[in-house]
Amino acid sequence: MKIVVFGAGPIGLITSLSLTIWGHDVLCVDLNEQLIERLAKAESDLFEADLKTQLQKYLMLKKLQFGLSTDFDAEFSNIYFVAVGTPTKSDGTSDLTALQSCIKSIVQIPTAHKKTVVIKSTVPVQTNQNLSDMYKKYNVCFISNPEFLREGQALNDALNPDRIVLGHQDEPAIQLLLQIYQPLINNKENKTKVFVTDPATAEISKYASNVFLAAKISLINEISKITAKFDGDIQHVSKIVGADTRIGPEFLNSGLGYGGSCFQKDISAFVNVAAAHDIQLPMISAIETVNQQQLNRFSNLILKNIPENKICIWGISFKPETNDLREASALKIINALLKKNFTLHIHDPELSPEFLQKYAGYLNQKQIMIFKDKYQALNNCSGLAICTEWPEYVNVDLQKIKTHLSHSFIFDGRNTLDNKTATEQGLHYFSLGTHL
Ligand code: UDX
Repeated sequence: MKIVVFGAGPIGLITSLSLTIWGHDVLCVDLNEQLIERLAKAESDLFEADLKTQLQKYLMLKKLQFGLSTDFDAEFSNIYFVAVGTPTKSDGTSDLTALQSCIKSIVQIPTAHKKTVVIKSTVPVQTNQNLSDMYKKYNVCFISNPEFLREGQALNDALNPDRIVLGHQDEPAIQLLLQIYQPLINNKENKTKVFVTDPATAEISKYASNVFLAAKISLINEISKITAKFDGDIQHVSKIVGADTRIGPEFLNSGLGYGGSCFQKDISAFVNVAAAHDIQLPMISAIETVNQQQLNRFSNLILKNIPENKICIWGISFKPETNDLREASALKIINALLKKNFTLHIHDPELSPEFLQKYAGYLNQKQIMIFKDKYQALNNCSGLAICTEWPEYVNVDLQKIKTHLSHSFIFDGRNTLDNKTATEQGLHYFSLGTHL
């Protein structure tokens, strides 16, 4: 089948690639000329496993093409996947400007055929219904088909999803979508469940999934206050709780809390939609409060205990295996420490160039220094703060850390190291599970 994908950002790109891998011909379009030109040469700043080789392969086979959303062949297809950004506005609601203008241009594409518009972007509840109402005079139908991709492993997630959710009000269109996903549905190895439902249920399911995941993290983080008070071991608590099959072991790593482009944005949008309809969501609102508290607890732990204002930070990205800095906990800790005139040594295995731009002033004044070697980064620092649990920080040489630091303070923001072992090796170990 032939499909146009609107949006060449992370979600649009991965969606385009997965549709291509399933045998479809895809034209991925975007307003950003420079982005399109680079993607057409298989160049991307996105740090995703297997992305470049797959892009090269399908570009060469001419199964995947890139183009400008303002100027592409109207006859290419009448199926449009929409994967443009829906960022959070300053009032906490979702900014649907890109989505609205994209839909407007789709409905105006001159073709006699009925158009099927598949909404991949995360949109507030009722958006699909509102679009259907708004464009009911046009020969177009809308399907909600939310994505559940994790950064760093997005292509693998797209190719082996736990579920496909299709929210619709149009039977022929749903048959078309089932045909598009047929290669995936037919593959018995990946056990993908297909849910065909109404648009509101599909939209709510996306938010509900992220709410559950974020809630698990905030719950274990609240429990870390109790282990800190009574000398319990939060890592053991996580393992014991996670061994209950009703709870499961995933998403129980306690520490600095969640960052990234989704959880904060989606929780805020969800709470705001509810509030607009006079519905209060106290539990869901508290998820975000707990997440924020973890950051304050961690910066206070450092400020209260470190003997000098010079610290080394390991791990800047919002999670390992990505260079994305959006809502990264490390940046919030860095900002809190800079306010207190700290000098910072930074190490991250994949430090994003965006970091250098963001902190250019501090880098010029040498209040922030970047190091390629994680041990060299410790030199002359009183302590080390681990903010992202990259694998290379897990099995680390504790004696080497001790030798390089001027004072042996470790602030473990991700429960990456073992408290007992670190203490036995003569380090002053602090974490959110051991200290209030
Ligand atoms: C998330 C969802 O997993 C995905 O389904 C959704 O579509 C988009 O948002 P992503 O933001 O890529 O994906 O990252 P994820 O791996 O879910 O981690 C989110 C944050 O939670 C990270 O900052 C991570 O460090 C933190 N986290 C995760 C914890 O603090 N503890 C955990 O146990 C797990």
